[in-house]
Amino acid sequence: MKFYGKRIPMHKIYLDNNSTTQVDPEVVQAMLPYFSEYYGNPSNLHSFGRDAKEVLELAREQVARLINARPEEIIFTSSGTESDNLAVVGTYKANMNRGSNLIISAFEHSAVYYAANYLKKWHNADIVKLPLDQHGIASPLELSKAITDKTVLVSVMYVNNEIGTIEPIQRLAHIAHQVGAYFHTDAVAAAGKIPIDVKALEVDLLTISSHKIHGPKGVGALYVKPDVDIQSVLYGGLQEHGLRPGTENLAGIVGFGKAAEIAKRDLSTGVPEKIKVLRDYLQEEFEKKIPDIKINGHPFERVCNILNISVAYVEGEALLMNLDLEGIAVSSGSACSTGKADVSHVLKAIGVEDKYINSPVRMSLDKNNTKEEIDYTIDTMVKIVERLRTISPLWKPKK
Ligand SMILES: Cc1ncc(COP(=O)(O)O)c(C=O)c1O
Repeated sequence: MKFYGKRIPMHKIYLDNNSTTQVDPEVVQAMLPYFSEYYGNPSNLHSFGRDAKEVLELAREQVARLINARPEEIIFTSSGTESDNLAVVGTYKANMNRGSNLIISAFEHSAVYYAANYLKKWHNADIVKLPLDQHGIASPLELSKAITDKTVLVSVMYVNNEIGTIEPIQRLAHIAHQVGAYFHTDAVAAAGKIPIDVKALEVDLLTISSHKIHGPKGVGALYVKPDVDIQSVLYGGLQEHGLRPGTENLAGIVGFGKAAEIAKRDLSTGVPEKIKVLRDYLQEEFEKKIPDIKINGHPFERVCNILNISVAYVEGEALLMNLDLEGIAVSSGSACSTGKADVSHVLKAIGVEDKYINSPVRMSLDKNNTKEEIDYTIDTMVKIVERLRTISPLWKPKK
């Protein structure tokens, strides 16, 4: 991996880019002047404020371009989590007169899932969970059966962050619109991996997060189509069309804008395709060298950088710890459930069999990973699995 700066020792290999990414040096450079040189508040009328406003609007254009939106349709927030909360809670509350039904997929990120749970507990929302097939696809037919004229909002993620499956968003959004419901998609794991076009997808709301695309942490955006009836979930000033009060995180937003610009450039210069070559190689070598494994997620409707693999008779946490001891960082489930050894709700939702459900490891690559790193990871993983299986009472090697 080409590490930026000297903070990370050279021998370490980072394969956890769906948890977070290293901030791009171009992004850091773009941000620096906005801490101590141009530190104005974009709401102020004087020159400091006007300078700040100008770069804020430039960043809005950069982020809008990444998803083919218009700048005025972008609301900056503090995170993907906040954008999801605003989309789900803000849209539901503004439309409670129309109905109380909310449909989410069975494997949404906790930022959508717990927002829906909050609405159920405090606002009598009736939550319907859309089932997924074995590869993690939400079926448009199932949505047609579940939706009613009381459905206010449907929220289905564009790409699942644990297994990488890409959802048929345009078809799902089309069905939601037939009954007058709004459609939100969490595109946090899609941004930078596949082109996003809010118009072609026909979505009303779409979430992205800066730190998943080599931008800084603590910045997110929500695309809101102009005709969407939505209310703020915070109370205060009139920033961001009144939908997100609070003085903007200017340096963070500038960094997000730059990261979006780079992500767009990378999409047009074949970077995802290069990542996919390495990811596919990793997968093929595991399939050849490690018996009794399962690749979770769709065989081909899957983003370029995720490999989620279950190794029978080996705990995912044990794999993670052993790989970490060898300098390889991976995740054993969703980034945001760090520290919890619960069974993955994603694998449960796609019906992964018992033998494989406790042993997922997610490897998520980025453009800086090298073939040497992947070769080292393959060798190391093969050895670790062999070692752990020798102490598993359930493992019986084929003679
Ligand atoms: C699919 C998805 N949605 C939302 C989030 C939350 O984003 P943030 O970390 O910016 O709050 C994450 C973070 O892992 C995610 O993977």
